[in-house]
Amino acid sequence: MTTERSLVLVKPDGYARGLTGEVLRRIEAKGYRLAALKVVSPTTDMLHRHYAEHEGKPFFEPLVEFMSSGPVTAVVIEGEQCIAGFRSLAGATDPTKAAPGSIRGDLGRDWGAKVQKNIVHGSDSPESAAHEIGIWFPEL
Ligand code: RTP
Ligand code: MG
Repeated sequence: MTTERSLVLVKPDGYARGLTGEVLRRIEAKGYRLAALKVVSPTTDMLHRHYAEHEGKPFFEPLVEFMSSGPVTAVVIEGEQCIAGFRSLAGATDPTKAAPGSIRGDLGRDWGAKVQKNIVHGSDSPESAAHEIGIWFPEL
């Protein structure tokens, strides 16, 4: 098994609630390495590229608006199977259904918005990770 990299975002809700440190704590406690880290105010162009797979879905525009609503913390994490491992730490997309013990299950809730505000993003495949790291960390 070769070392993987995954792109993690602490979304605007998590950043505004001061949860960046708690998310980073869980990633480090799990044993993954922080390979790169920065606070970014994403452009709509970056978000359209990042969420291209969701273009046309009913939640796409609310999602781009939500993700543009404030700074995010962008992180590249590293470790064997960290893509699946971080998805497991994050929990299910819907924070109401996410298992207690997961980031979304412990720290997230439904706020009655048009899109689920669920604190974190994590890449879902090696291909997505490479694509997403190129968007958020073009210098790497
Ligand atoms: P992410 O890409 O952010 O790691 O989350 P995910 O894989 O668990 O979920 P995905 O299906 O890729 O959806 C991207 C983000 O869009 C928002 N969403 N809201 N019905 C809804 O209200 C809804 N569906 C999706 C969430 O913020 C989700 O994380
Ligand atoms: Mg996704």
